[in-house]
Amino acid sequence: MTSAPAVSTVQPIQWLGDRLRLLDQRALPREERYLDCRSAEEVAAAIRGMAVRGAPAIGIVAAYGVVLAVRESPSSFELASSVLEASRPTAVNLRWALARLRSLWMGGADAAALEAEARRIHAEDLAQNLHMAELGAELLPEKATVLTHCNTGALATGGHGTALGVIRTAYAQGRVAQVYHTETRPWLQGARLTAWELQREGIPARLVADGAAAHLMKRQRIDWVIVGADRIAANGDTANKIGTYMLAVAARQHGVKFMVVAPSGTFDPDCPYGEAIPIEEREPRELTEFRGEKVAPEGQDAYNPVFDVTPAELIDAIVCERGVIEKPSARKIAALLAG
Ligand code: MRU
Repeated sequence: MTSAPAVSTVQPIQWLGDRLRLLDQRALPREERYLDCRSAEEVAAAIRGMAVRGAPAIGIVAAYGVVLAVRESPSSFELASSVLEASRPTAVNLRWALARLRSLWMGGADAAALEAEARRIHAEDLAQNLHMAELGAELLPEKATVLTHCNTGALATGGHGTALGVIRTAYAQGRVAQVYHTETRPWLQGARLTAWELQREGIPARLVADGAAAHLMKRQRIDWVIVGADRIAANGDTANKIGTYMLAVAARQHGVKFMVVAPSGTFDPDCPYGEAIPIEEREPRELTEFRGEKVAPEGQDAYNPVFDVTPAELIDAIVCERGVIEKPSARKIAALLAG
């Protein structure tokens, strides 16, 4: 057993009543800088600009963004919702959180009721993560070695994290002996954010280049790859950070198990399969430059999809707060979501 706390102390999203305070993730780990948003437009800009990122986190902050807008002017509900929904296309949590507010608004709710709902979405996410963490940890063998991708921790959620929540809880239970995590180019969510979260809690973790993952699986015993999700289609195909699909292919080749951890708000029953999931493409500049400095020759073109889709058949388990689905299929997912 270790002394690592089971619950993270990071509070990246703070609702202050009249404004939303966000830990600006672009500055981490160099600086813990906060950004105050006072309007839906400012919240949308923070999402687009990656000050706040991670599917559950952007759903939560979008909900608070609508509250800020409606407080200013009740007639701005539609415009604020559409600006927020358009801020990033792949994570369905954004649309899901806005839909929760919309159904209350259509039923005659006022700004105070929307604020209560936004707070509920925030609190529920933490509770769901803590439950998923217990369920996911049970799947791991003793003294497991795990590999994770991107940042799926407290920074990406309402607290504790999805995939990183499983790792956190399993480590506190003594089930995880070693964590490997990828850099996650080009935004380096792994090298900057996952490293920052794990170091704060003293969880032993080794950073690897994204391209080192298959080599690592071949040379070391990796028990599970554990990742989050931005959208899970009705058949279990899962969109997550670019590079996830590559990890799943390598995992299958090397006999490594592959786990996706996501709350029910990440499932999209309206999306039948992975090909129908919109994949965000960001500016080529994110690849041709590094921190404003050109690394590719002038005029270099680049293709920058920031998510990919892992087919359901490469996933051994999806862990959701409603339960665990082994070998996901449309039938099992529909049953879980109906229950
Ligand atoms: O582009 P990002 O940093 O928002 O991408 C985040 C991811 O892909 C995460 O794995 C996903 O949102 C799950 S976070 C709990």
